[in-house]
Amino acid sequence: MSAEASPSEFTIKLNANPMPEDERLQAFQSLGFGTLFSDHMAVIHWNVVKGWHSAEITARGPFAIDPAAAVLHYAQEIFEGMKAYRTGDGKVVLFRPDENARRFNESAKRMAMPEIPQELFLQAIDQLVKTDAKWIPEGEGSLYLRPFMFATEAFLGVRPARDYIFCVIASPVGPYFKGGAKAVKIWVSENYTRAAPGGTGAAKCGGNYAASLIAQQEAVEHGCDQVAFLDAAEHKWVEELGGMNVFFVMDDGSLVTPPLGGTILPGITRNSLLSLMRDQGMTVNERPYSFEEWQADAKSGKLKEAFACGTAAVVAGIGEVKFTQGSFQIGTGETGPVTTKIREQLVSIQRGKSNDPHGWVRTI
Ligand code: COI
Repeated sequence: MSAEASPSEFTIKLNANPMPEDERLQAFQSLGFGTLFSDHMAVIHWNVVKGWHSAEITARGPFAIDPAAAVLHYAQEIFEGMKAYRTGDGKVVLFRPDENARRFNESAKRMAMPEIPQELFLQAIDQLVKTDAKWIPEGEGSLYLRPFMFATEAFLGVRPARDYIFCVIASPVGPYFKGGAKAVKIWVSENYTRAAPGGTGAAKCGGNYAASLIAQQEAVEHGCDQVAFLDAAEHKWVEELGGMNVFFVMDDGSLVTPPLGGTILPGITRNSLLSLMRDQGMTVNERPYSFEEWQADAKSGKLKEAFACGTAAVVAGIGEVKFTQGSFQIGTGETGPVTTKIREQLVSIQRGKSNDPHGWVRTI
């Protein structure tokens, strides 16, 4: 008989010391991003003999892992980001969770890690969200879900590990950027690149984010919110931000976004926006866009708006761009009307406030 965990076999061990309700509600008053965590987590183990097994919902707490665990040495780790929302009529919904499951397995393949059956991934999410439903804030906030997997085998040889833990934690969140809806400032990194052809740029692995941190630090030192990376081969083409994709809005109403090509994360928000825009007959060109063009278009007024997008940030207008040689403003320097409109359209589908023509929202 197979020892693989099946979706019906989650053991639920409730947290004996959940956060008191008044403390939780107090914490909900000032939600930022990723600092507050719910009472439980989903955990599933994998090893080369048993496959997926021992699926449980348990109290959120530290893992005991061996100091030789492969993740600590060779960074075999991947993750996802998704959100649960409470709708106006009290339902709890997820946005395109099947896409997160699919991308998670693409990342797993790239990092020589085991794939997780989509149903098991979704069941872990559902079980955790049901258990911690009271952690989904009302109003503007949401419950950010962070599925991740890491190699636990104690072994220092360099090969794919034979033991892994898959885990999902949950964090009630408000806006990703401190300024809320205010347009963000971007630092274009000319010293560091994020991903090279043939590398791990399209995988959502911790290593990509680790490699981005020094450039992000540089951005903060220059008074910016996020770093933008140029391509590794020519240092010419705009690729993506530290944790978000990027779009440009032109004066003829068309949009440009860098094409996926293995070095850019295939954002689920990016993909959803492309569909929404094309549904409305808007022209979106997925084409290489150079930093030179970006500067020239901002200066001539051809570029009206630019925005960043991702699960955590949703859609955030870009007002100003800085780099070693100077800086330039985009449009009025504020979040523009096209950015605001597309953000509202997406958020209203995500929160079950408007028609969902693509069937993206899943009620749990
Ligand atoms: C997300 O948008 O969910 C991400 O994983 C990006 C991260 C920078 C928070």
